[in-house]
Amino acid sequence: MADLIDTFGGHFMSEVPDPYPVYARLRREEPVVLLDLPMAPGYMVTRYDDVTAVLKDAALYSSQANAKGIGLVMGRTILEMDGKEHTRHRNIISTAFVPKALQGELPGVIASIAHQMIDGFAGDGDADMVAQFTRTFPLRVIAHIIGVPIADYETFKRWSLDVIGFADDPPKGFEAAGKLVDYLRPIVEAHKAAASGDLLSTLTHAEVDGQRLTDEEIYSFLRLLLPAGSDTTYRLIGNTLFGLLTHPDQLDAVRADRTLVAAAIEEALRWEAPVQFAARETTAATTLAGVELPEGAQVLTAIGSANRDERRFEHPDRFDIRRGADDHVAFGFGRHFCVGSHLARLEAITALNAIFDRLPNLRLDPAHDCGVVGLAFRSPNRLPVRFDA
Ligand code: HEM
Repeated sequence: MADLIDTFGGHFMSEVPDPYPVYARLRREEPVVLLDLPMAPGYMVTRYDDVTAVLKDAALYSSQANAKGIGLVMGRTILEMDGKEHTRHRNIISTAFVPKALQGELPGVIASIAHQMIDGFAGDGDADMVAQFTRTFPLRVIAHIIGVPIADYETFKRWSLDVIGFADDPPKGFEAAGKLVDYLRPIVEAHKAAASGDLLSTLTHAEVDGQRLTDEEIYSFLRLLLPAGSDTTYRLIGNTLFGLLTHPDQLDAVRADRTLVAAAIEEALRWEAPVQFAARETTAATTLAGVELPEGAQVLTAIGSANRDERRFEHPDRFDIRRGADDHVAFGFGRHFCVGSHLARLEAITALNAIFDRLPNLRLDPAHDCGVVGLAFRSPNRLPVRFDA
């Protein structure tokens, strides 16, 4: 498996165009394989049934693994908690993201953010949909929900990407996390003094076992929520657009029947999972797919590979919005299942409808090439398009 090891030997955030043939071979020949991963040696799990088995068994496969990875820069967050501690902390934020909480004014706010951004280029006849739309659209939405005013979205976006990409450049990741906290400190203090009904007010006034959250706990939540709520969804919108723009018959079908937008998003989640891995650590020696794992083994579930497992999905490499594959694992599985899945879907549906409403005859610009790239996270870096202005 030298090719995969070479791939990982480089960078976690590297822009690999197509890791899927390697995953297909791993699923066939070595579904649980020991690799020299960027942070430490670990077992990569590539088949759908094994990935879901690991993510389902939180007692045997602990999320503590994240403390040695992303937790180093984000701080102690629910991503690395297990058991009751995880439930208590997750409950503080999860109610803000259940479908009922996303009704009311929020859909209108999200739509107006989308339309304002499109106003900036709708008259031009061409655009880079990543630079001009997807990259900061979800950040604007999550910042609104949390209650963090942001003057300079590009700088904020850079910090957030440096935080999640910290495995490749730890000093840069720590520096970005520090800048985020410096920026957030006066906003957090203002929310402590006066609650204003947003998520930051919930965090600054929440109690766990009768105790208010400490500042460190509040900042850890923010260091998790801002990137988790923005760096993922922007990739989903880019992947859905790319899938549709490279399959014009399916694009035409979606434009003609907007009820298909949701199906297109679901298929994009399966076909190009924005988050490709979830990390775990064994709490006892065990056997997985015939491979013996010692206690304390690092286990990397390959979500993107599970979503392309031919044992689960027919012709898995095909983008087909009519396949109805809502059993993909793009949002994870089990007790750490993504808190923001409903919000991500709402944002993506709103964005795509606004794009189709405002940009007639949308098509890829043949003068520039583009594609979905990435190892740990996947999406297009640019999406040059043309449309009738
Ligand atoms: C397309 C967009 C998104 C994708 C693909 C995605 C993916 C994931 C995945 C795979 C996990 C599980 C991690 C694990 O099991 O270790 C997760 C957890 C999480 N996601 Fe998302 N996410 C997305 C959007 C969002 C949004 C919009 C939010 C904003 C609230 C969010 C907040 C979280 C949080 C807080 C967790 C941790 C849950 C826990 O540990 O209990 N995500 N996400």
